[in-house]
Amino acid sequence: ETGMFTYDPGFTSTASCDSSITFIDGDEGVLMHRGYKIEDLASKCTFMEVCYLLLHGELPTAEQLAKFDHDITYHTMLHEQMVNFYRGFRRDSHPMAIMVGVVGALSAFYHDSTDITDPYQRMVAQHRLIAKMPTIAAWAYKYSIGQPFMYPRNDLNYAENFLQMTFAVPAEDYKVNPVLARAMDRIFILHADHEQNASTSTVRIAGSSGANPFACIAAGIASLWGPAHGGANEAVLQMLQEIGHKDRIPEFIKRAKDKDDPFRLMGFGHRVYKNYDPRAKVMQQSCHEVLDELGKRDEPLLALAMELERIALEDDYFAEKKLFPNVDFYSGIILQAMGFPTSMFTVLFALARTVGWVAQWTEMIEDPGHRISRPRQLYTGYTEREFVPIDRR
Ligand code: SDX
Repeated sequence: ETGMFTYDPGFTSTASCDSSITFIDGDEGVLMHRGYKIEDLASKCTFMEVCYLLLHGELPTAEQLAKFDHDITYHTMLHEQMVNFYRGFRRDSHPMAIMVGVVGALSAFYHDSTDITDPYQRMVAQHRLIAKMPTIAAWAYKYSIGQPFMYPRNDLNYAENFLQMTFAVPAEDYKVNPVLARAMDRIFILHADHEQNASTSTVRIAGSSGANPFACIAAGIASLWGPAHGGANEAVLQMLQEIGHKDRIPEFIKRAKDKDDPFRLMGFGHRVYKNYDPRAKVMQQSCHEVLDELGKRDEPLLALAMELERIALEDDYFAEKKLFPNVDFYSGIILQAMGFPTSMFTVLFALARTVGWVAQWTEMIEDPGHRISRPRQLYTGYTEREFVPIDRR
């Protein structure tokens, strides 16, 4: 029977679906959404335009964008009862743990958008997820530092509103810095989708059984959390702090190359990119802009990261294995400079990736040929054995 299917652990050479959303050429370091290069989208679009593009296949006209913006802002509030749900968590909970729980709980709050056979309900679920994610994320942060939850403000754009809910406090007047809001928006664009990565595949597999969309996205968040995936941005910053000084870089490079040492250079390497991740380039440039704006041009972690990158790229091991910086390498430095604690980094990734998950989930549901995902295995256990009663074992 084993001859009937291919053995492909980690799915290194298995295409699990058709998709017209995202294209990657890993050898050339090219990433495109619906045919548009990520560099163009990051520099010329807003995140809302990119969301529309991923969901609908085309960039919106001004009128379509205004309507979409309205549809999203209409859903930015969380049900007030959700406050109780937050209060049930330990106050030092990792915000990703809160994300998994709260997003999954949306399925219990919004019964009117869980019939996946109804296109209208699917659309409402898409809008709700994209709209509520900044509120959910900001509240996870507020809860962890013991500050009151800030409500969404629909007069602000998506990134501005998120910054407001995260950093504003009722006692003080908060003005969003437009340079930081633009950088935040760009970070969201850079994370919006990335074809069949682990978390997106998780969402598709969960959804392939016809499961509730909110629960499927919670599954995606769980998968993203790991340090080999979205958790790498948090791990990069911890690694840079541990390295501490550029004199210690060679020691860590040596450890990363040692097969017997579990340490790997976080933010380096990628299953698909065997060249520079195009998102990492944009991220590095954004990093300079943000640090300039904040008067932190001499941020030692940035200098350390750039030196680490330089040394790794000149090293034979990294060259032979084609290991380059990925999207997570520089993002943490910007986020830290903006005032986010490391525990929020992966939350921001999840927030931005939600549109990709939702777009891919919808594409799958609307594909008339889709079937439940059900991989096979190579069985390595016992062959048939004779049963032994408990008194004779
Ligand atoms: C994301 O898939 C996506 O699209 C994901 C993502 C998205 O947008 O959704 O792009 C987001 O998850 C980015 C990746 C974040 N993770 C990290 O930065 C963690 C560090 N990187 C690695 O653990 C690793 O490179 C992965 C997980 C990213 C990729 O794993 P693969 O494809 O299974 O490759 P591998 O681990 O088998 O590596 C191949 C070789 C191995 O050596 P050999 O056994 O062949 O001798 O390269 C070595 C690895 O040991 N290697 C590294 C390394 N990454 C790979 N060696 C040192 N440092 C590293 N970072």
